[in-house]
Amino acid sequence: MSIAVIAGDGIGKEVVPAAIDCVDAALARHGSSVDWVDYDWSSELYLKTGRMMPVDGIETLARHDAVFLGAVGLPEIPDTETLWGLLIPIRREFQQYVNLRPIRALEGVPSPVAGGDDIDIVLVRENNEGEYSEVGGRAYRGRPEEEAIQVNVFTRHGIERVARYAVEQARARRGRLTSATKSNGITHSMPFWDEVVADVAAEAPGVQLESVLIDALAARLVLDPGRFDVIVASNLFGDILSDLAGAIAGSIGVAPSANLNPERRYPSLFEPVHGSAPDIAGRGIANPIGAIWTGAMMLEHLGHKDAADDLTAAFRTVTASGVRTADLGGTATTAEVSAAVVAELAA
Ligand code: NAI
Ligand code: MG
Repeated sequence: MSIAVIAGDGIGKEVVPAAIDCVDAALARHGSSVDWVDYDWSSELYLKTGRMMPVDGIETLARHDAVFLGAVGLPEIPDTETLWGLLIPIRREFQQYVNLRPIRALEGVPSPVAGGDDIDIVLVRENNEGEYSEVGGRAYRGRPEEEAIQVNVFTRHGIERVARYAVEQARARRGRLTSATKSNGITHSMPFWDEVVADVAAEAPGVQLESVLIDALAARLVLDPGRFDVIVASNLFGDILSDLAGAIAGSIGVAPSANLNPERRYPSLFEPVHGSAPDIAGRGIANPIGAIWTGAMMLEHLGHKDAADDLTAAFRTVTASGVRTADLGGTATTAEVSAAVVAELAA
């Protein structure tokens, strides 16, 4: 197996090598290994060349079995450049229409809300269309009548496939599916979303679907996080809910994610939820658990379930044992956490 590595910017360059050590150690337990191929695609490259990745970047990545990414973003560069120059093209060209974000409480990572220690949610975010579209424009720039129009794009095909994935997740778990909506205020796309999700869920009688308005859902997530099982949401709603749920679980530094092409026609991309964290970058104190957990998701996707389970058990043990970075109230460095996980796997 060959993995393309894009460490990116800021703490991406710190947590990715730490996570790779842990993934290698987990695979070694099973006499296995993967090839890692580094790409220096980043904001630095953008400052030098005006591009986040080379013109043939997508073709280059297509030759790999998966992509492992840290984070991109630099305060000096507009985030639209870094996002639309790298991540969003990869997600769309490779039809990674599922953004999968498991949110689970970890021992040693206290939740800031009551009931947060019971949280065990799988968030399925639509990743290819919806509110994040290139359709629209600006007119009358600088004049009082200036306007901006951003068109949301929802397709039956796009909603169906993400809903189907979420229903399958719910079926394999506790059978509860919550769909985020706003069909009271958004009168075309959201009722359409509701209809298509309901049609797909009806095909799986064991799965209980509830549609909840996004504002109420945000409040309920904070007040009663333990009641949720699988949540399916559009691109924007899923983006916001996953940061909220991640914060409820304790720290964005531990949150993993996968951008999946479930049909496996293209490589999938695995990245921690957090960004490049310029405020702490370069100090060696970033929490690598989000990236390590992401590595476990990648191993599972690539068919190394045993190694993935070992890796998950190892980082859970380390976090519970008190080897923690500053965001979790500890004093360990990034390298100390990953070394502890590697030692656990070698034991
Ligand atoms: P961020 O996730 O980088 O940081 C938010 C806060 O959480 C900061 O205080 C940071 O220090 C802390 N934090 C994040 N990850 C941590 C970790 N592993 N260990 C300890 N503390 C951690 O989000 P922010 O500040 O909004 O964005 C910074 C840059 O990252 C921006 O340029 C943004 O566009 C980019 N970004 C990139 C993403 C990606 O590449 N997928 C995702 C999110 C943001
Ligand atoms: Mg986000």
